[in-house]
Amino acid sequence: MQPLYEGKAKRLYTTQDQDVLRIVYKDEATAFNGEKKAEFAGKGELNNRLTSHFFEVLAAAGIPTHFIEQTSEREQLVRRVTIIPLEVVVRNVVAGSLSKRLGIEEGTVLETPIVEFYYKDDSLGDPLVTPAHINLLKIATTEELSLLEQEANRVNDVLRPYFDEKGITLIDFKLEYGKTPAGEILLADEISPDTCRLWDKETGEHLDKDVFRRNIGSLIDTYQTLFNRLGGNGQ
Ligand code: C5P
Repeated sequence: MQPLYEGKAKRLYTTQDQDVLRIVYKDEATAFNGEKKAEFAGKGELNNRLTSHFFEVLAAAGIPTHFIEQTSEREQLVRRVTIIPLEVVVRNVVAGSLSKRLGIEEGTVLETPIVEFYYKDDSLGDPLVTPAHINLLKIATTEELSLLEQEANRVNDVLRPYFDEKGITLIDFKLEYGKTPAGEILLADEISPDTCRLWDKETGEHLDKDVFRRNIGSLIDTYQTLFNRLGGNGQ
């Protein structure tokens, strides 16, 4: 069957139910807008299991998500949504592009979390956008934007203590939201070490895709370590 959509890390297929899609997680890792690429046997399975688990944790906390169920090692069923072309980034600690853009040292703890919006457009390199830009591009209304910000903060309020209990600091992460045909906004896409920065609380060890971006360790060993730290089944 032809995928409905193929992204850098996942393929999306339709199902017999028009409101439900099947996601297949791929073993490919990319960084720097696809400039750096590699395959890691087992990555798809780890990210599928981790994402499924995080979406279950969020659902249990009352956060509406597209996730229905994990159906196999690398597959899950989700509700069909139209993705809002924004990357919603939440930051608790300075790292990555925030450190570069503002010249603040990585590891500086933010007094309050920061939510940023990036326009999902590979040809533009996913630029940081302000509410005025989002309005100009007619991506979301002011009300929708404040809902996204509020919802992203709620996700942080659930995941930050969840990781903290496991001895891991949730440095930052990226979320994507989608709209159902009825207009309901749901958390979509994935939450995985591809889309989060996670540092060991004691040692500062990176437990995320920065090991691949920065060539500082084995991606699979790192994702497996994270998986084991979360209880072996992400539990
Ligand atoms: O690169 P930057 O510091 O802006 O990334 C912030 C967070 O968003 C990181 O956790 C990173 O993994 C995630 N991110 C992502 N996909 C992107 C850009 C950033 O998952 N295209």
